[in-house]
Amino acid sequence: MACKISRRRLPFEALLLLLCFWAALVTGSEYMKYKDPKQPVNVRIKDLMKRMTLAEKIGQMTQIERTVASADVIKNYHIGSVLSGGGSVPAANASGETWVNMVNEFQRGALSTRLGIPMIYGIDAVHGHNNVYKATIFPHNVGLGMTRDPQLVKKIGAATALEVRATGIPYVFAPCIAVCRDPRWGRCYESYSEDPAIVKLMTEIIPGLQGDIPPGSRKGVPFVTGKYVT
Ligand SMILES: *[C@@H]1O[C@H](CO)[C@@H](O)[C@H](O)[C@H]1NC(C)=O
Repeated sequence: MACKISRRRLPFEALLLLLCFWAALVTGSEYMKYKDPKQPVNVRIKDLMKRMTLAEKIGQMTQIERTVASADVIKNYHIGSVLSGGGSVPAANASGETWVNMVNEFQRGALSTRLGIPMIYGIDAVHGHNNVYKATIFPHNVGLGMTRDPQLVKKIGAATALEVRATGIPYVFAPCIAVCRDPRWGRCYESYSEDPAIVKLMTEIIPGLQGDIPPGSRKGVPFVTGKYVT
């Protein structure tokens, strides 16, 4: 059966069309290729880069500390990323909810920009989610290296990732894979071993933190999966 629009319905359809144009105009919801998940990543990047001003590019390459961040600062300077420096917390003994609210508030600023590029929040979760009150604290890398147990270290990565996500944070500055040969270096405790072979074994914490890349998938590209270790 042919589908045909009856004469009686035409004015209604026209009105609907007009309404759509009006909605697109006031909400600025014109089609943006870079926002279309069906487009290949390279196409989306090209489209977005073409639209960005120099100020927006500079802002996107800038990571600021949470003490100087606010929704307005992120919006006005097109800030791409925010971090907690060591010990930088939204409140003394802050709850998970307080952390999430802080990150969401920053994200609100980022999403309200002209291009709506989300910001990423990063933190040093280097032996568990160590800046956060009541988080599970694991031994530092120098202790974990002594276990010679990559599967244990992977589980620690997964547990850390779960707690980090619970505070609304998608990004950790970990692991440190330094090979410390001189204990006078002030962060030697963040090195798994002075033996590169052991440090290499312990990088198993990475698929713990970000999840396993499915078999046959491309390696060498950023990857994050669900919340459970497989
Ligand atoms: C934070 O927690 C610690 C230990 O539970 C407690 O001694 C301290 O008084 C708390 N500080 C604040 C500001 O709530």
